[in-house]
Amino acid sequence: MGRKFKVYTSCHFQPKLYSVSTPRNKKTWNQKIHYFSRYKNHTTMSAEKRYNWAILGCGKIAQKFSKDLQLLEKANLYACASRKLDKAKKFADKFGFEKAYGSYAEMVCDPEIDIVYIATPHTFHKTHTLLCLEQQKAVLCEKAFAINEKEVLQMIAASKKNQTFLMEAFWTRFIPTFQKVLEIIKSKELGDLKTVHSDFLFHAPYDSNSRLYNRELGGGSLLDIGIYPVFTALMTLGIPEKINAEAQLSPSKSDAYMTLSFEYPENKAAHLVSGFTCNSFNDSAFYFEKGSIRISRDMNKPILISKNGSQKTLQMNDGNGYGYHFEASHVMECLDKNLTESPLLPLSFSLNLIQLLDKIRKKTGIVYPNHDTAPFDS
Ligand SMILES: NC(=O)c1ccc[n+]([C@@H]2O[C@H](COP(=O)([O-])OP(=O)(O)OC[C@H]3O[C@@H](n4cnc5c(N)ncnc54)[C@H](OP(=O)(O)O)[C@@H]3O)[C@@H](O)[C@H]2O)c1
Repeated sequence: MGRKFKVYTSCHFQPKLYSVSTPRNKKTWNQKIHYFSRYKNHTTMSAEKRYNWAILGCGKIAQKFSKDLQLLEKANLYACASRKLDKAKKFADKFGFEKAYGSYAEMVCDPEIDIVYIATPHTFHKTHTLLCLEQQKAVLCEKAFAINEKEVLQMIAASKKNQTFLMEAFWTRFIPTFQKVLEIIKSKELGDLKTVHSDFLFHAPYDSNSRLYNRELGGGSLLDIGIYPVFTALMTLGIPEKINAEAQLSPSKSDAYMTLSFEYPENKAAHLVSGFTCNSFNDSAFYFEKGSIRISRDMNKPILISKNGSQKTLQMNDGNGYGYHFEASHVMECLDKNLTESPLLPLSFSLNLIQLLDKIRKKTGIVYPNHDTAPFDS
């Protein structure tokens, strides 16, 4: 069954109507209801509000994220934008978005959009975030939040100036397995957390055209996947007192492999690895005084908890989705409360994270020439 959706070719032009086929399921029905009304029940608007989501950049992660958005009753898949209209139309057709735009700037003019999910390479995050915030659109921006501290500070300033919601799309913060780890740390049931081991590696052979190796697009393992182990250490142990870092560079001078160790007071430590050189189990392990916890990067695998020589496993997820629906749901909860930042992932945390990544890059000589200024270049 086809349905009509609008395609804007310019902010000022009348939209053309195209026919899109969408699967016959409950979600599609909800989207149809939403097409006529932003609220399921006009008398309880704040509790029942549904949000018009827009996707900026129709690449790989945008596909997974859009699939997870389909799981959320409060999310209406409203618009998507690509640099090419044909690509946006295909994306809209595949995931059931109502509108497709051939330009990011045109899409953010749409007054019906509530939240924009930015899924472009890291080097564009600042520009695209500012574009949305200036139109008072709430923003969920992919990690790495930006290239360096200077850019993140500009993004935070724009959020404050426009009094508009901004959050880094650090999805692992919101998945039940990681929430459980944070809960156990806080409860002290295993004593103090002393050591974190975390790695993220996958094999991606060198390709100068790939985003992963291209420094024009923020390529390198640290900002792409090393950011996860760094995030894990920062969230659980805090800001380190001392950082040791070693990078192996690719021919494009992006980092192909990175080893990090963070030192903290009271003999606490984090040992972290990222790279495109090989595949790993991609586990994180948390060692406490009285036990340990192991979690997998696959959020559907159970948590392993060991205490006083005995072990148990905890299954935290129902197996639905990739895991991006948890962060998307949290954004909508924040907007329900008129917040301009998340209490669980505040902008101060994203600032601490990028400052840590900047320090690591300075130690290992990784530079993004069109973004970094001295002392990076010196
Ligand atoms: N949360 C996660 O699990 C996760 C996983 C993977 C990636 N990410 C993050 O998401 C972001 C995008 O990653 P991705 O793997 O989805 O990247 P990708 O597929 O290579 O590119 C994303 C999209 O960015 C747009 N884009 C705009 N200007 C571009 C340019 N000059 N060159 C290339 N693309 C450009 C393109 O969309 P249009 O052609 O439609 O305009 C492209 O499809 C990165 O910051 C990455 O770190 C997050």
